[in-house]
Amino acid sequence: MAKTTQPSWLDSAVFYEIYPQSFKDSNGDGIGDFNGIISKLDYICGLGCNAIWMNPCFESPFGDAGYDVSDYYSAAPRYGTNEDLRRLFSEAHSRGMHILLDLVPGHTSVEHKWFKESLKAEKNEFTDRYVWTDSVWEEPSGMGCLRGISDRNGSCAVNFFSHQPALNYGFYKPDRPWQQPMDAEGPLATREELKKIMRFWLAMGCDGFRVDMAGSLVKHDEDSKGTIALWQDIRTFLDKEFPEAALISEWGEPDKSIKGGFHMDFLLHFGPSHYNDLFRCAEPYFSERGKGDASEFVAKYLELHKKAGGDGLICIPSGNHDMERLSFTVHGDSLKIAFAFLLSMPGAPFIYYGDEIGMKYLENLVSVEGGFERTGSRSPMQWDKSTNAGFSSAPAEKLYICLDPSADRPNAEDQISDSNSLYNEVKKLIAIRKAHPALLSCGEIGFLSDGKNAAPLVYVRSAEDEKILVVLNPAGKAAELGLKAEIKETLYSFGGEIGRDGEKIKIPAKSAGFYKIA
Ligand code: GLC
Ligand code: CA
Repeated sequence: MAKTTQPSWLDSAVFYEIYPQSFKDSNGDGIGDFNGIISKLDYICGLGCNAIWMNPCFESPFGDAGYDVSDYYSAAPRYGTNEDLRRLFSEAHSRGMHILLDLVPGHTSVEHKWFKESLKAEKNEFTDRYVWTDSVWEEPSGMGCLRGISDRNGSCAVNFFSHQPALNYGFYKPDRPWQQPMDAEGPLATREELKKIMRFWLAMGCDGFRVDMAGSLVKHDEDSKGTIALWQDIRTFLDKEFPEAALISEWGEPDKSIKGGFHMDFLLHFGPSHYNDLFRCAEPYFSERGKGDASEFVAKYLELHKKAGGDGLICIPSGNHDMERLSFTVHGDSLKIAFAFLLSMPGAPFIYYGDEIGMKYLENLVSVEGGFERTGSRSPMQWDKSTNAGFSSAPAEKLYICLDPSADRPNAEDQISDSNSLYNEVKKLIAIRKAHPALLSCGEIGFLSDGKNAAPLVYVRSAEDEKILVVLNPAGKAAELGLKAEIKETLYSFGGEIGRDGEKIKIPAKSAGFYKIA
């Protein structure tokens, strides 16, 4: 099993996810770009985030917002040049920040030159770059496919949308003549190309990758054994050439991804995690209605935490470009309490741009670049009250996605100057986290109350000789809990501090607090 050594910067990392299209447009074409991001690095730093995950920024026809790459070695011209991207890396580094690119290893766009070559009937270098059957009449089982679109006699598997053909990393247990084993020439060539892409951007100064659909590479790989082995090989390469580079997977099964050598894995709105119970369901746990339940989340979390072992981090994002924004289902004070949770859990926190000011999910937008329902979470960042909320000087109809049209839409400038804003609460929470080893990514966690039937969520974070009690009660009803430990100091409180009653604590309604305990 590949033993991962955490890059040391991950312990105190707090990530900010940037959707480059929608963050800041510097040249008035209505689309965000690298120079725009550079101009806002101080904002991200000011919030306290010291790391960035940027969604795909490579050449692409943008049928899936850039998750359909047509050239892995070139920045998409709409964002700038490779040189601009290099400058973004160095500007981030000069502020003590790290930046991860989004790597899409499983599929390309149909526009990629490899795919165009692989469509040809004559054998060539790219014939085996994608997963093809050997007859147009046979479809790859369990996968969608493209067929009848060229002279090549075969069907090509797709991973996601129909324009995203699956790259060939082989089959774990091939049982048809066209299914190649993982160590066949074609799959190995794809794997070497993947290393080359990683090497190219790491050498240019990026600090690692968020890996898209990381668990999907090897086909017919039921227990993921083949995909895990493939990532272990990548881990060996990284340990040798780029030991400080960080890898986080979109996998959602930390027991597998960490074994594969990822440092971190996301808990997501799909998969076994019960993440949605907390934030995104009819009765989320983080709600003053007090009808939610966090206990299945906690049970699963503890199981995954144990399986991930001391080496791996489980990262809980505030949201991302694929789900409704946090503020769609979590409102008012509950949002602040949800952030107290996100920023006091182990694993590196990830804040989706705009969630720190409570940006809204825009319902019923016409899809932009393959966003469909996801489009409503991808609208332009709201910086201030100037034209187009300070996002762009383009005419409103030229903006990549329309802005939140509501008169009371939040903006960063107003929230920075309002001490009661969500922005300032998030900023305070990040500062407290960074000042306490027990609250950092690698600190331990033990639960005293698992949020069953809307009961408070109470846990102890610890590292070295520091112990911090976290008490969260989003419900609109006070509660009590047995606690013997002595409370030494209040590090943070929102909505009132806990009170003491012998061996019990009294927990105010709609409150969150961090306390140093002995
Ligand atoms: C991931 C991305 C998503 C994309 C899909 C296909 O889930 O987060 O946005 O559409 O993979 O690449
Ligand atoms: Ca632009």
